[in-house]
Amino acid sequence: MNNNEVSGTAKSSFSSKLGFVLAAAGSAVGLGNIWRFPYLAAKYGGGIFLLVYLVLAITFGFALMITEISIGRKTGKSVIGAYSKINSKFSPLGWLAAAVPIIIFPYYCVIGGWVLKYLTVYITGAGATAAGDGSFFNNFIGSAGQPTLFLAIYMGLTAIVVMLGVEKGIEKVSKILMPVLVLMSVAIAVYAVTLDGAMEGLKYYLLPDFSRFSIKTVVAAMGQLFYSMSLAMGIMITYGSYMRKEDNLEGSVRQIEVFDTAVAFLSGMMIIPAVFAFSGGDESALNAGPGLMFITLPNVFESMAGGQIIGIAFFVLVLLAALTSSISLMETIVSILCEKTGLKRIPASLIVVAFSMIIAMLSVLGYSNWAEVKLFGMQFLDFFDFLSNNILMPIVALLTCILIGYVVGTKYIEDEVQLNSKFKSKMLYRVMIKYICPVCMVVIFLSSIFGYV
Ligand code: TRP
Repeated sequence: MNNNEVSGTAKSSFSSKLGFVLAAAGSAVGLGNIWRFPYLAAKYGGGIFLLVYLVLAITFGFALMITEISIGRKTGKSVIGAYSKINSKFSPLGWLAAAVPIIIFPYYCVIGGWVLKYLTVYITGAGATAAGDGSFFNNFIGSAGQPTLFLAIYMGLTAIVVMLGVEKGIEKVSKILMPVLVLMSVAIAVYAVTLDGAMEGLKYYLLPDFSRFSIKTVVAAMGQLFYSMSLAMGIMITYGSYMRKEDNLEGSVRQIEVFDTAVAFLSGMMIIPAVFAFSGGDESALNAGPGLMFITLPNVFESMAGGQIIGIAFFVLVLLAALTSSISLMETIVSILCEKTGLKRIPASLIVVAFSMIIAMLSVLGYSNWAEVKLFGMQFLDFFDFLSNNILMPIVALLTCILIGYVVGTKYIEDEVQLNSKFKSKMLYRVMIKYICPVCMVVIFLSSIFGYV
């Protein structure tokens, strides 16, 4: 798929249902699945987090994704135009949704830079130095210089692709790479669970321990759901606007969800049991937060035969999965800027890069020179992550539910889904959008605010 289509600058459709599903899944699968999901699952109780996440995915995730894709296909517009077309009073909602990628993009590039750094570590054969207790990783992010360098290279790579507009090639490549990523993840996960001591970790990850359940588990799982499925930020509206009318909407949504969730699940299998194996069952090792993947996987690779090659291959794939996501994040911001200011693609891209670099530097410095600066008790990166996933996205989702459930009525969406097939989960959908989603969004939003401030 050409990203010009996604940005709304040129109108065309996907040539097949599979093309649509893969394109949407390509946007959804990224660092959220491989890096963010495992560290949240580790932190919020393992099995219980997984269970809550799965329940939310088939209820909330499903209802919201159906809504967004239907809105897109029905209005044929990207996010800002779509909401105002449905109801002009709701046009600020489009802007609010559009603000989300602006917050996510900078720190996404910071993590992308970390992945790039690890790739160079493996390419230069220095994988062994990255293994161990995490001091390698902590020294790396604790100094501002290297993370800034890799951030700049990563954002530069993203920007070059966006400026050249060669996303078509990237999409083609990612259709081959995504399955390879899945196969490799399966192989690494199988290896990881057979490590000595991994069984305890596997139990932690798969068996829910209800005593660990708290509202924070739900808040975190919900934020992750939005993030991972690229929901509540208008992306899926834009994708929906390129979906063919004759394709089965409900079925496509199911497939995108299954794909995205499968990759996240596998990433947890790669990382969480291995944490137990290498820490000798010490649960505090699970609290490594955003660094978890970068601390655990080097140990796994170090203990494997041919670990260097596996390490290179793995980080190449993660890098590409991340790039395809950051390209579409940046593309979204650039296209809004172009549309609203009349700027050309290249100057608009340069402005986005300059602005995002400044914001991203806050995240880099938050781990190094400014480590003592805290916003509501959080480092900058965590703060941006929290602001977009736990504050803005629930607001956007809540307002969307109100718009669909009470202003225009769920029939608006149902008609679109039923254009060519039966809407199998119609009842579930109605109940979710009208009652359960809005109530939960309010609870989540309030508990985000009061639980953390
Ligand atoms: N879903 C992506 C991931 O899991 C991240 C993401 C969030 C994203 N919003 C997006 C990607 C918008 C592309 C476009 O990594």
